Amino acid sequence: MLKNHFSRVGFILAAAGSAVGLGNIWKFPYITGEYGGGAFVLVYLLAIVFIGLTVFLAEAVIGQNAQADVATSFIKTSKSKNKNWKFAGFMIFTGLIILSFYSVVLGWILNYVFTSFGTLPTEASAAGQAFETLITKDIGSQIVYHTIIAGSVIFIVLKGIKAGIEKLNLILMPLLALILFGLLIYALTLDSFSTAVSFMFSPDWSKIDGNALLAALGQAFFTLSLGVGTILTYSASLPKHENFVKSSVMVAIVDTAIALIAGLIIFSFLFEAGAKSAAGPGLVFISLPVIFSGWGMLGQIIAVSFFVALVFAGITSAVSMIEPSLKFFIDRFNMTRKKATIMCGSIFYILGIIALLSMSSAYGGSLTFFGKNAFDWMDFITSSVMMPIAAIVTCIFLGYFVDKDMLKQKFVPNSSLAVFNAWYFLIKFLVPLAIIILFLNKLGII
Ligand code: PFF
Ligand code: NA
Repeated sequence: MLKNHFSRVGFILAAAGSAVGLGNIWKFPYITGEYGGGAFVLVYLLAIVFIGLTVFLAEAVIGQNAQADVATSFIKTSKSKNKNWKFAGFMIFTGLIILSFYSVVLGWILNYVFTSFGTLPTEASAAGQAFETLITKDIGSQIVYHTIIAGSVIFIVLKGIKAGIEKLNLILMPLLALILFGLLIYALTLDSFSTAVSFMFSPDWSKIDGNALLAALGQAFFTLSLGVGTILTYSASLPKHENFVKSSVMVAIVDTAIALIAGLIIFSFLFEAGAKSAAGPGLVFISLPVIFSGWGMLGQIIAVSFFVALVFAGITSAVSMIEPSLKFFIDRFNMTRKKATIMCGSIFYILGIIALLSMSSAYGGSLTFFGKNAFDWMDFITSSVMMPIAAIVTCIFLGYFVDKDMLKQKFVPNSSLAVFNAWYFLIKFLVPLAIIILFLNKLGII
């Protein structure tokens, strides 16, 4: 067995651990609710199959073949071996910035795990108030929880790929599956389960406009952890003889299944309580606790399990956001893993503190620039600027600057010529076009 490499199952679990996160359990249900259900789900599924999976395979083929950090992998894979491809390595910073605020949000969820042991709010107004107080006034708690999350992430990645990341996923992913399975069984017993199914699977096309298409596309990228160099970096630790096509398809299936299951669970709960499906980002933090409080002791158990599941899903994603930068500094600058971790860990930890302070009523004002606070800026700059640019660079790179026959040789033994041809066409023409449209739209240009 290769030292510091994933096993086949380890890779699938770790990549699925990266993919399955707050994006599936928190974001997917609330945007599906906002865009009216069924039709959005269908568009999202198409975006996953034709665009998400295509870019996933792109990152995987680059990483697995170069077996190096993001910058070195681009140089090695290019036809010209031009050293300037190292600039594609900019994407390692995206993960660090996302991790800053993702750690803060995970901190809120950890806080909810503990408060769920106490009395849950019975009114939406009280629940809204509690959430509002946490994020605008309670700087102390937020710092404590952010520190616990950041500390755990650092502790795990210090141990490396095999003893840290693979092991974490080996433990947490089955536990996550178990909790979600339990919640799904409970949802199945509710009368509203069938309402949730028809909400999610019978399309109402009137709700679909340009915004819905772009939201589906953006979500497809975020949910599969693309445009951050994460999948590339994990694939660099996938032994060369393992089938990257099969593994990638597996990960996309797991991620999609979990998003759909989370949606069914959450909509069953919402409809059972007669709540609206379009509750927005507060869905998990405000609507759900009120619903759980109406279910007595069982509700309390469900509340704790639900937030624990979110923490598990989030932690396995968080470790994957820092790994591209660690590998970059370890491989290219000969840093020890410890030194790289301390450096990158401090960067995201401090950025996280800035993000949480920027939402407080006391310091928010001085951390707001051009109408957006630091937290929103970090979100905007990563998901609307850096991730789409990285994805476009990756497509153009493979479509125009890499030897086609070389790529064909990587795909064909693992899939078929038809699959390769379809993938190559998508990566060269369709996907870059779709992302450019998404990008210009997000910047408000079209
Ligand atoms: N895929 C994760 C989710 O759905 O929550 C988010 C994510 C993880 C984005 C890792 C980027 C990343 F590198
Ligand atoms: Na996801």
